[in-house]
Amino acid sequence: MSTELASQSDVRSTESPIRIAKLGSVIGAVIEGVRLGGELSDDALSRVRAALLEHKVIFFRHQDHLDDAGQYEFAERLGVPTAPHPTLRGDGQAVLPINSEEGKANSWHTDVTFIDRVPAISILRAITLPEYGGSTTWANTVAAYQGLHPALKALADRLWAVHSNVNDYVATRDEVRIGGVDVKQEAHSREFVSTAYETEHPVVRVHPETGERSLLLGNFTRRLVGLSKQDSAAIVELLQRHVTRLENTVRWNWQPGDVAVWDNRATQHYGIADYDDQRRLLHRITLAGTVPVSVDGVTSTPRTGDASHFSELA
Ligand code: SIN
Repeated sequence: MSTELASQSDVRSTESPIRIAKLGSVIGAVIEGVRLGGELSDDALSRVRAALLEHKVIFFRHQDHLDDAGQYEFAERLGVPTAPHPTLRGDGQAVLPINSEEGKANSWHTDVTFIDRVPAISILRAITLPEYGGSTTWANTVAAYQGLHPALKALADRLWAVHSNVNDYVATRDEVRIGGVDVKQEAHSREFVSTAYETEHPVVRVHPETGERSLLLGNFTRRLVGLSKQDSAAIVELLQRHVTRLENTVRWNWQPGDVAVWDNRATQHYGIADYDDQRRLLHRITLAGTVPVSVDGVTSTPRTGDASHFSELA
């Protein structure tokens, strides 16, 4: 390309109406000047993708024009949408309702780590919001790894963990359920565990696009391979504490029309259950991901359950 053409394209890109504002030093950015959907220009799409890899979670206000179909079309521009969930029916195509009447995701987790093909990206759209509370917090699991003492990095690099959809999820749901059996939550919990999955993942995975190392833990982690229950719990607690340090997080207060997109290979998140019995509904679409790879090139292994109906391997 000639110097003249190169400088023209520089000028065009600086004149782009897309504005990206960081929300914290290690995680989160708000993007303005983008209308999400299938019609997104290639230039806007590549800037959104780059911002996602850099900031780990990105937020878009004023996307009220989106419905499920529009959210799906945007998802298809960014990657390959998965089924709604390995065990939950959702809309039968790609949308998983995150519905407070069925349960609350108030525990730190990376989406769907109990299978081998952990989704790469999640797209969450506000549908019905409570009058107060109900924010979501994300944590950067790359920064968490980078902040570890070299001796802890060396330990984490060698550890593997078993993740499963069976057990803690039910315990978490019980914490927010007061006053006996809730029929919708019971049905949802039964569906959630209707097929048991167990997968061995490296505690440190290498990001397939950025090459960054990140901690792969969260609420579906059951134990560390080869360690006693006590040692497992203590080490997971220690590493998890580094993930959720407040400096490592960003908290988003949802407004109608908001969309959040996160890199599920580099984050954990927590839906804050501080809205009493008000209704809260968001629609989530996840994009297919690759099987995690350890620092020495070994891929995660499913122990129980076949997740091939959930997604192709990306
Ligand atoms: C999720 O875990 O995908 C939903 C988080 C939330 O409820 O804010």
